[in-house]
Amino acid sequence: MTVTKSTPLQVRLATAKDIDGMVDVFFRSFTVPFFRTLFPPTPATREWLTGTFREMMQHDRDPRFLVVEDVENGRMAAFAKWVPPGTRHTHWLSFKDFPGFDVPLCDLFFDGMHQNREELMGDRPHWFLELLATAEDYQGKGAGSKLLRYGLDRADEAGVEAYVDASLEGLPIYQRYGWIVRNSLTMPAPHDYTLNFCVRPRRAGPGAEQIS
Ligand SMILES: CC(C)(COP(=O)(O)OP(=O)(O)OC[C@H]1O[C@@H](n2cnc3c(N)ncnc32)[C@H](O)[C@@H]1OP(=O)(O)O)[C@@H](O)C(=O)NCCC(=O)NCCS
Repeated sequence: MTVTKSTPLQVRLATAKDIDGMVDVFFRSFTVPFFRTLFPPTPATREWLTGTFREMMQHDRDPRFLVVEDVENGRMAAFAKWVPPGTRHTHWLSFKDFPGFDVPLCDLFFDGMHQNREELMGDRPHWFLELLATAEDYQGKGAGSKLLRYGLDRADEAGVEAYVDASLEGLPIYQRYGWIVRNSLTMPAPHDYTLNFCVRPRRAGPGAEQIS
């Protein structure tokens, strides 16, 4: 069936039963050459991602994994993970324990993300959008926006900032929702892919600054 802008999509919190579907969506969304190099669609990468999502669901503090489903056929269209304020560490499994990863590239990617969030946010409370992925056939149909709203509404209610490590594909959407690029990291040749580290200022809510 063709997916259109009027295809009904529904957001719900994910459970461990959704992990296989989330891994499928991951590979059906991160399809540009850089991400194919970083996360080759192999059994080992699948095992690493499956283990990571399971570990995060069990051991992160209050992780908010969300999925978007196509109401008409029950297919998973997208998923996200929001990290509530107060969590600095989340439980990624080490890719070094799995074969086939480009270890120096993965180190640069993950260390760059970790260090930038530490430097830019420190211990200021913020909602952190750690993962966002929409399967290619569902992109541009509003699934990503529904997932963005979940954390942004909570950030605004609490009057705190939001943070994201933006892919090039996601950056225009994040900017539309108020995120501002604060730093960036370009991967060495031949990748030449830039990650943008983005902060969304706090808005309404008890902790927000008054704008006169
Ligand atoms: C970034 C991403 C999650 C956006 O999700 P999405 O479900 O396509 O987002 P939406 O449909 O809510 O689109 C938001 C806006 O961007 C536009 N848009 C997004 N992707 C588009 C595409 N491929 N083609 C055309 N427009 C697109 C939409 O039209 C929409 O604008 P509107 O609100 O004015 O209608 C998705 O493109 C994706 O998974 N990309 C690959 C993985 C990735 O980079 N994830 C982000 C990691 S930080």
